[in-house]
Amino acid sequence: AIMRLRLLPLMLATCLSLMAAVYHFSAKTSVLQLSAAWIVNQSEANLLVFKAQAPTYAMPLDIEALRLNFSKLKDATKRHSGPHRGRLDQMMLNYVPVFSTTEWMLRSPSGRRFTIAEVQAVAKSTIRPGVPVPNVAHFVLPFGDTQLQFHHMVSLLSCLHVMKPHRLMLWYAPGRLPTGRWWDRVRKNLTEVEWDERIVMVQRPVPKSVYSVPVHGREHQSDVMRLEAVLIFGGVYLDIDVLVLKPLDPLRKFDFTIGREVSYGLCNGIFMSAPSATFLAMWHTAYQVFDDNAWGDHSVKLPHSMQLAFPDLCHVEEDSLDRPNWTSEEVVWIYGIGQQHHWDWRRKNYAVYLYGKFNNENLSSVRSLNSMYGEMCRYILFGSS
Ligand SMILES: *[C@@H]1O[C@H](CO)[C@@H](O)[C@H](O)[C@H]1NC(C)=O
Ligand SMILES: *[C@@H]1O[C@H](CO)[C@@H](O)[C@H](O)[C@H]1NC(C)=O
Ligand SMILES: *[C@@H]1O[C@H](CO)[C@@H](O)[C@H](O)[C@H]1NC(C)=O
Ligand SMILES: *[C@@H]1O[C@H](CO)[C@@H](O)[C@H](O)[C@H]1NC(C)=O
Ligand SMILES: *[C@@H]1O[C@H](CO)[C@@H](O)[C@H](O)[C@H]1NC(C)=O
Repeated sequence: AIMRLRLLPLMLATCLSLMAAVYHFSAKTSVLQLSAAWIVNQSEANLLVFKAQAPTYAMPLDIEALRLNFSKLKDATKRHSGPHRGRLDQMMLNYVPVFSTTEWMLRSPSGRRFTIAEVQAVAKSTIRPGVPVPNVAHFVLPFGDTQLQFHHMVSLLSCLHVMKPHRLMLWYAPGRLPTGRWWDRVRKNLTEVEWDERIVMVQRPVPKSVYSVPVHGREHQSDVMRLEAVLIFGGVYLDIDVLVLKPLDPLRKFDFTIGREVSYGLCNGIFMSAPSATFLAMWHTAYQVFDDNAWGDHSVKLPHSMQLAFPDLCHVEEDSLDRPNWTSEEVVWIYGIGQQHHWDWRRKNYAVYLYGKFNNENLSSVRSLNSMYGEMCRYILFGSS
């Protein structure tokens, strides 16, 4: 856990003067040296982060950009901060993400343990000049009902066989490993050896709070987990009801990419990012004024407002990730029988979001399902739609 020490003023003064040199040096080189204990000076916060608790980033955060852009970020965040709005300046103090990775446990399916640094190194081996996003995919597995459904299987297989990630990282809560016949099917899709080579299982506690605010909604807990996963390793985050339909490589040239869901919102069900990307780090720091009671504020509307404020830091795919959208007019294009002519998914989509309206299909019923959903499943499962 992150230690928040409210030191006595005298101790703080001593400490600050000792640490000032480290801070100034770090700020000037715009890389905060994690090899030394470091202090982020946010005068009111007196927040001390010790080396052992600070997350280890695969790439240095651009501390200078985060600092310079912080007030603009606060402006963009204000209208999404609900009950915290009046206290935003008191609550939103950290311009560097603060969270702990100490309880993350990484292993191969057969039980070989990895350190975070080892997996970061593997992810980094897939980036190159002009391609800052690693070829790594992340899913947060359902931690309510752990029994996977048919469309979850299709989602995981679409990632493995269409995106073809170098590593697939499956995040799960302690004691909540996936179960059921559709999980077995995924498991048997690769040989024992391939499975152990390509899959990284990551156990981490479900966050109950972020900064000082509570997070109880399951979807919101999963939102925090995905931001932290991609900040630390980079790669593509996919909800487990997303189908990948084309390789995502053309988008790996942008530091951060997300899709438009509605005119006023970008969807956090699919995004991809370089490790430590500034936009993603900002998004995490905006959780200091997170409101658990608002449905899509921090997950959908906030990234939209942030993107308007920082267009250079965030590439938006207008139609290729989250269209058709969930309006009744469009969702029928996905599920309506014989309605698939409305939307040319083969040409338009890198991925499609299922919006939780799938039917309970199986491998035989899906063969004759005359809809866009049926076509996409067959394309992924059998190679012909
Ligand atoms: C810390 O921040 C305060 C107020 O912003 C500033 O006056 C002070 O010089 C800063 N100290 C360091 C060590 O950067
Ligand atoms: C954001 O940070 C970048 C990089 O340090 C800087 O060039 C830019 O001026 C900042 N933008 C704003 C709006 O402060
Ligand atoms: C769904 O997409 C259509 C077409 O772009 C758009 O007109 C409509 O406003 C979108 N729905 C929402 C809720 O934004
Ligand atoms: C597959 O689904 C169909 C339609 O829901 C059902 O009638 C059939 O019994 C199912 N088959 C299997 C093997 O579960
Ligand atoms: C694994 O899944 C892919 C894509 O769905 C499919 O083409 C392949 O036949 C499956 N392999 C096995 C061994 O099930």
